[in-house]
Amino acid sequence: MTKYLSAVVCAVLLAHYASGAPAAIANGTSSSITSPTLSQNSASPSPTVPYASDDPNYPIFPVDSPPADPQPIRGSLGGTILGPQNIPIDQENPDLLAPPTTDNGEVLSAKWPFSLSHNRLQTGGWARQQNTAQLPKASNLAGVDMRLEPGAIRELHWHSTAEWAYVMKGETQITAVDQNGKNYLATVGPGDLWYFPPGIPHSLQATAEGNGTEFLLVFDSGDFDENDTFLLTDWLAHVPKEVLAKNFQTSQSAFNNIPGQELYIFPSDPPSSNATAPEDPQGQVPNPFTFKFSNVTPTQYSGGTIKIADSTTFKAATSIAAAEVTVEPGALRELHWHPTEDEWGFFLEGQGRITIFAAQSNAQTYDYQAGDISYIPASNGHYLENTGNTTLRFLEIFNSGIYQDVSLSQWLALIPPALVKAHLDLPDSLIDNLNKSKLGVVGPKSTA
Ligand SMILES: *[C@@H]1O[C@H](CO)[C@@H](O)[C@H](O)[C@H]1NC(C)=O
Ligand SMILES: *[C@@H]1O[C@H](CO)[C@@H](O)[C@H](O)[C@H]1NC(C)=O
Ligand SMILES: *[C@@H]1O[C@H](CO)[C@@H](O)[C@H](O)[C@H]1NC(C)=O
Ligand SMILES: *[C@@H]1O[C@H](CO)[C@@H](O)[C@H](O)[C@H]1NC(C)=O
Ligand SMILES: *[C@@H]1O[C@H](CO)[C@@H](O)[C@H](O)[C@H]1NC(C)=O
Ligand SMILES: *[C@@H]1O[C@H](CO)[C@@H](O)[C@H](O)[C@H]1NC(C)=O
Repeated sequence: MTKYLSAVVCAVLLAHYASGAPAAIANGTSSSITSPTLSQNSASPSPTVPYASDDPNYPIFPVDSPPADPQPIRGSLGGTILGPQNIPIDQENPDLLAPPTTDNGEVLSAKWPFSLSHNRLQTGGWARQQNTAQLPKASNLAGVDMRLEPGAIRELHWHSTAEWAYVMKGETQITAVDQNGKNYLATVGPGDLWYFPPGIPHSLQATAEGNGTEFLLVFDSGDFDENDTFLLTDWLAHVPKEVLAKNFQTSQSAFNNIPGQELYIFPSDPPSSNATAPEDPQGQVPNPFTFKFSNVTPTQYSGGTIKIADSTTFKAATSIAAAEVTVEPGALRELHWHPTEDEWGFFLEGQGRITIFAAQSNAQTYDYQAGDISYIPASNGHYLENTGNTTLRFLEIFNSGIYQDVSLSQWLALIPPALVKAHLDLPDSLIDNLNKSKLGVVGPKSTA
């Protein structure tokens, strides 16, 4: 076995020198002499396989100022499009049109723009959704983008999944009553969250503030369908009126004006922003269903910020955790993965690209703009690079009570340096200076 291996290594080495490849082995040897922290006899890994390509693999054009005539050409690869072309979509997706040469195989279903979802228009607002019908692999989470004009109500309802929300604009007033008859009412603004446990009945309503409200809803099941919720009006329209009268111990005529079908979203008078819940003899829910995420101070990194809301701070949110991340132009949300949970991402502003590494040499790069959803399965390695010239702001959302990630850089910093050297043959100075903290978001740095 050993004999066989060394024969192969020898053959590859010979082929390597014969082909006149760059003398990276020599660089490695000389640098290891300067560093006492590394084992002198660390073998270089490169003789056994070819080197990775030196192509920097930038996007083929800047997404902020794309060419009028984008073409699938990267260096000597590709060729012009002769057939029909949807130019605006190609302009938004340089890394799909002409992928980095590091991409290989396929990583399906990682992008969905809400712009491609069916929109349900009602008097008072609208709602559009993404679930497994749009992204078949997004099995753990689904999303809804909803708009309510001032005073409009998303009617009293409940569903078997938990509901998590991020307010994007305006003010939303929510109400809920839990299984113990404890009630809750609160008004939340931009950057704030709410969470309803499965089956808890609730309502959403825009106040008079601003021009109504728009929010992102996320559910802890990929199969969630906004049309499959239990609506107050829909239920009562399907109960015999004799039974309604008996249940409320009144005459049937009390129900003369109830709607004959669901309302879903409908206009109404705006509630006061400072409204409070009616007096409840059972008291209020033990853990508030809203969280002032906008008041949380983010952790500052060299290239941006991260702040986290999970059940350690937003106690009610036992099945959905989230991070709000900003990435400055040219900066990078560091190479990392989430050990057990799929990531459902949402782009709030700016643009960026993500390469998803799905093992077995499969890797694919997607470009994202504000309003797009990303989906990255658990443990798939990835980064997020700001490819625009404005701040990129996005949400990472998980079907879990706890936020978790693993940093590539931190991992390599906390194992024996010789082990890192043996795999990657990096300069010793780089290995010696690996940061033992997570990098979070790393600032732009010339890679020339
Ligand atoms: C290694 O040496 C080659 C040839 O001298 C040079 O082109 C390359 O940049 C060096 N690599 C590193 C990592 O120093
Ligand atoms: C972003 O950069 C493009 C050129 O790449 C430029 O046309 C555009 O004005 C810039 N936008 C801002 C907000 O700086
Ligand atoms: C407010 O919303 C209404 C209805 O959605 C829209 O017609 C109007 O243009 C908006 N006004 C402003 C100032 O955004
Ligand atoms: C949801 O129901 C509404 C009203 O019946 C309908 O207009 C809409 O197309 C449905 N949406 C989906 C995704 O089925
Ligand atoms: C609530 O707000 C209204 C104006 O919207 C104001 O008149 C009223 O005094 C406020 N009530 C409290 C208790 O702050
Ligand atoms: C290591 O990274 C942290 C951020 O995670 C940063 O605050 C610190 O300055 C870095 N240390 C060095 C030596 O770069």
